[in-house]
Amino acid sequence: MSRHSDGAQRRLAAPDITVLKGKTPIVCLTAYTAPMAALMDEVCDILLVGDSVGMVVHGLDNTVGVTLEMMILHGQAVMRGSRRAMVVIDMPFGSYEGSPETAYANAVRVMKETGAQAIKVESGPAVVETIAYLVARGVPVMGHVGLRPQSVLVDGGFKAKGRTNAEHADVLEEARMAAGAGAFALVIEGVAEPLARNITAEIDVPTIGIGASPACDGQVLVTDDMLGLFDWTPKFVRRYADLRGEIDRAVRAYADDVRSRRFPGEAETYQLIKRA
Ligand code: KIV
Repeated sequence: MSRHSDGAQRRLAAPDITVLKGKTPIVCLTAYTAPMAALMDEVCDILLVGDSVGMVVHGLDNTVGVTLEMMILHGQAVMRGSRRAMVVIDMPFGSYEGSPETAYANAVRVMKETGAQAIKVESGPAVVETIAYLVARGVPVMGHVGLRPQSVLVDGGFKAKGRTNAEHADVLEEARMAAGAGAFALVIEGVAEPLARNITAEIDVPTIGIGASPACDGQVLVTDDMLGLFDWTPKFVRRYADLRGEIDRAVRAYADDVRSRRFPGEAETYQLIKRA
């Protein structure tokens, strides 16, 4: 945690992250709820309230249906649960692409109603002007290049990027433009290693990879993926726990105990207060 000049502690913010480039790998995980944010706050540099919340928590097929209200609600929960990590909130599909003015109004709403330190946008060429507009008006922006999940319906699926020379050049240029427009960091998603390496070498703000090789300045994963909550995860995920198995075991044990009347037992039952 950083300190104010008066010694008071404050959350990490965009400049604290930008200076980490080339010094120490940046640790980022997604967070959507207060208790999970509280568990991860001490360890992570950035808690990303990703619009993946639509798929992970709300059961949507992709992130296109995620709304500003959903992001604000989950952003508020993550802010309540944490006090040290920087909180970055994804701007959902349709909330920033139309015009810089609309993006600014929606980003201000997200920042005022949640208190988060920054927002993230999927930064294709159409959004570069918006990044500059937001940053010039005091909104810290994280960009997102490579596989851009909000474009899934145009791309025809969640497909890795940068595996051909043409795509390599396009994504590299998108990254240069987003950094040039003032993004304080860039997520690089689903790209081949040489592209991640070139972007990381060429831009002067940190790159945070997801499915983008070790060549990035930091890494992010969807927390529920790495905790093993789903029966399928993409190739780039490493599972650090098997919560799916643990939850299945616990729910079955509970159901057995209820059906056989072993739960609740004496220890879990209130009794009359015995007066002397
Ligand atoms: O929505 C999200 O969780 C993200 C990460 C995958 C980077 O954008």
